[in-house]
Amino acid sequence: MKVAPSILSADFTQLENSINRTSKATYLHIDVMDGVFVPNISFGQSIQKQIRPKFEKMIFDTHLMIIDPIKYIKDFADAGSDYITFHIEAKSDINETIDLIHSLGKKAGISIKPATNPDVLIPYLNKLDLVLVMSVEPGFGGQKFMPNSLEKISWLKSYRENNKLNYLISVDGGINGETYPLVENAGCDLAVMGSFLYKAENPNEWIERIEK
Ligand code: DX5
Ligand code: ZN
Repeated sequence: MKVAPSILSADFTQLENSINRTSKATYLHIDVMDGVFVPNISFGQSIQKQIRPKFEKMIFDTHLMIIDPIKYIKDFADAGSDYITFHIEAKSDINETIDLIHSLGKKAGISIKPATNPDVLIPYLNKLDLVLVMSVEPGFGGQKFMPNSLEKISWLKSYRENNKLNYLISVDGGINGETYPLVENAGCDLAVMGSFLYKAENPNEWIERIEK
């Protein structure tokens, strides 16, 4: 399993140093919140653009928690996203948004909130590069892991096998030293980890242990 440290929990007064503490990870998770789709505001494309050249080796995994993602796909593609993930519960047309992401040469992901069943993804799974299962209500770091995400991960894994598809299965929210083995055993490929890693004394050691 790979790790995507979520910079939502980084120290923004020394962002580069803070991300450096997690720089052994393969991915970097960028949580964008608009205060409308979720009850919190984080940061936008200009922050991502500034950190992009400093972490060239990391795969930038952008998670858009915004109400009309299609309006901002080009901005995030230009700001160096490798994966762009948006919510199925947002307002943009799903197929048009996936197609736009692909037309810009980026990988496309869809995320589902804790109350959303993964079978709503069936019409899109053959076009997707990533599915992001939320294991907390999106909006804030530091919440408790919701175990109903585990069945969704297993369902996505068997659907992928049965239909010979390729999307990555990622999980986001409440993943720490105790819960990461649960998502890994259920079939998660990419664990998003925010508060646990950034509060840890040596995040890069955890990342090496988890990515093995
Ligand atoms: C929640 C965010 C998460 C969050 C994960 O809306 O999408 O990425 O940063 O944070 P932790 O690991 O603290 O739950
Ligand atoms: Zn996220």
